[in-house]
Amino acid sequence: MQDYKEVLSEILIDEKTLQARIAELGAEISRDYEGRDLILICILKGGMIFLVDLMRHITIPHMMDFMAVSSYGKGARESGGSVRVTHDLQTDIHGKDVLLVEDIVDSGNTIASMLEFLQTRQPRSLEVCTLLDKEERREAVVPIHYRGFRIPNKFVFGYGLDLDEYYRNLPFVGVVDLNKYKPPA
Ligand code: IMP
Ligand code: MG
Repeated sequence: MQDYKEVLSEILIDEKTLQARIAELGAEISRDYEGRDLILICILKGGMIFLVDLMRHITIPHMMDFMAVSSYGKGARESGGSVRVTHDLQTDIHGKDVLLVEDIVDSGNTIASMLEFLQTRQPRSLEVCTLLDKEERREAVVPIHYRGFRIPNKFVFGYGLDLDEYYRNLPFVGVVDLNKYKPPA
């Protein structure tokens, strides 16, 4: 696999800016959910880095759990119309205040399907927190209650987001240079 420097065209959001915004989101969530029964649900794998940083800025008691979904069709860089749950929650969310934590909302199809799926379990509330919002690409109408950054319609990687499963570890969000990137065989 290529070194990330060979495929990076620009750093879109640097580490300091990311961390400062995540601290703000954590404080906001702590205020809003005070006295409630909060559970953070991380959508694997992209949301995991954001989740662990975010939860360390949440000062009220809360639980967390993971879910994994895979989208049908369209290939690795686009999601299709529907998703399949590949790893379900281990926690009963009935009557709880659920906050979905996502890396990015792109077409919105993933979040829309997740909301529909989780709603059937009758949480007391169900809201969405996304680090990145690529609004221009939206196909499904999804309510976003907490948003880290609006970003332009560019393919990004790092900070949990992958390029063919690589580079999730990078501490910043970068834009890929598609002319230089060679996908793994
Ligand atoms: P949506 O269903 O189209 O909103 O897509 C959401 C999922 O697509 C995200 O959870 C990401 O895993 C993936 N995705 C969308 N845009 C990007 C990107 O720019 N970089 C990496 N992954 C992305
Ligand atoms: Mg992904």
